[in-house]
Amino acid sequence: MAFLLAVAFGAGASGCEGAGPDGPATVEVRVPDGFDPLPVPPQNPLRADRVALGERLFFDPVLSRDMSVSCGTCHLPERAFSDGLGRSLGVEGRVGLRNAPTLLNVAYRTSLFWDGGALFLESQALVPLEDHREMDLPVEGALDRLRQHPEYPVLFAEAFGGEGPSVRTLTYALAAYQRTLVSAPTAFDRYRAGDDGALDAEARAGLALFQTHCQSCHAGPLLTSEGFENNGAAVTDEDPGRERITFSAADRGTFRVPSLRAVARTAPYFHDGRFQTLEAVVAHYDRGGDATPGQSPRVRPLRLAEADRDALVAFLRTLDDAAAPVDRPAN
Ligand code: HEC
Ligand code: HEC
Repeated sequence: MAFLLAVAFGAGASGCEGAGPDGPATVEVRVPDGFDPLPVPPQNPLRADRVALGERLFFDPVLSRDMSVSCGTCHLPERAFSDGLGRSLGVEGRVGLRNAPTLLNVAYRTSLFWDGGALFLESQALVPLEDHREMDLPVEGALDRLRQHPEYPVLFAEAFGGEGPSVRTLTYALAAYQRTLVSAPTAFDRYRAGDDGALDAEARAGLALFQTHCQSCHAGPLLTSEGFENNGAAVTDEDPGRERITFSAADRGTFRVPSLRAVARTAPYFHDGRFQTLEAVVAHYDRGGDATPGQSPRVRPLRLAEADRDALVAFLRTLDDAAAPVDRPAN
């Protein structure tokens, strides 16, 4: 995963922001063939010092009320930055409202959260930081801690032209790091690039079924249209996350179509983690979902043979890269 190929150095490796041709080192992220160039907003370039600061912050529990939870507690590198739980656990073991999605390729999302409730990585981080069920630390408290820390003030000043910890610099550093989390090429990518042997016969059969039944929503190299769809996963009044859903009640089964990159490592599945396995997800689609009000007409009973359901799962497993997990820095 995180495919940091090279760090390109300008002359003044720790110079000011916007230092021109002799500006600070930036991180070059290589993306698989077929991906658009990595979207990076001009106001928050991938400076190496900023990415390194963001990485350290991401894995530092100092950002939670009782210093027990970091961003990385719920976004584990070895699980493609998800956490293996149906719903995430925050400080004091408080159960969250939703399943933690992968952060791989998060730079490419056109909206964030299952309901699209945040638009920019630069503002998203304040949500888990302050959420009672997650890190439960008001941002001013977090900034006080960082300002009193023996190392962070210098690291912030270096990465942000002299500006110390602030709402802007904290969220920009976390965003810069997360943009570098891009998938490495997978067997599926090698196949798309013309290597017929990259997928075996079963996975190729699964790809054909996927193109017929799934690709209208799970489209393109990231396997998502980035749209909002109701795929027939019933949301009941018992769903504690329903309060997070910003759509009208009739549409409350509508969620952002998730990318399927690395999906073999991001179980359990769906917004509430209701399915433990890819086999169970495929069975959901095979029976035509829960026939919920508002369900997309593109989710309808398939009644596939067992071998075809297995082939779909085999194909989904080819969407993972085999690269080694990212090392976590010690805090
Ligand atoms: C207690 C577990 C937990 C912690 C801690 C946590 N997250 Fe998350 N994260 C989640 C869950 C659950 C979601 C999905 C929430 C939703 O969609 O309503 C999520 C969603 C996200 C998303 C949106 C991804 C997408 O594709 O929509 C980003 C980005 C993110 N988290 C980054 C962070 C950062 C940065 C931190 C630390 C400041 C952090 N998270 C801390 C559990 C956590
Ligand atoms: C109408 C659009 C649509 C179609 C067609 C569709 N999906 Fe989905 N898919 C979604 C949405 C929306 C979700 C998220 C649902 C939720 O969280 O409750 C999803 C979730 C998933 C997930 C879980 C991902 C995760 O990280 O939790 C998998 C796997 C998946 N779909 C595979 C498939 C397969 C295989 C097919 C074809 C048999 C298919 N999808 C067809 C919209 C669609």
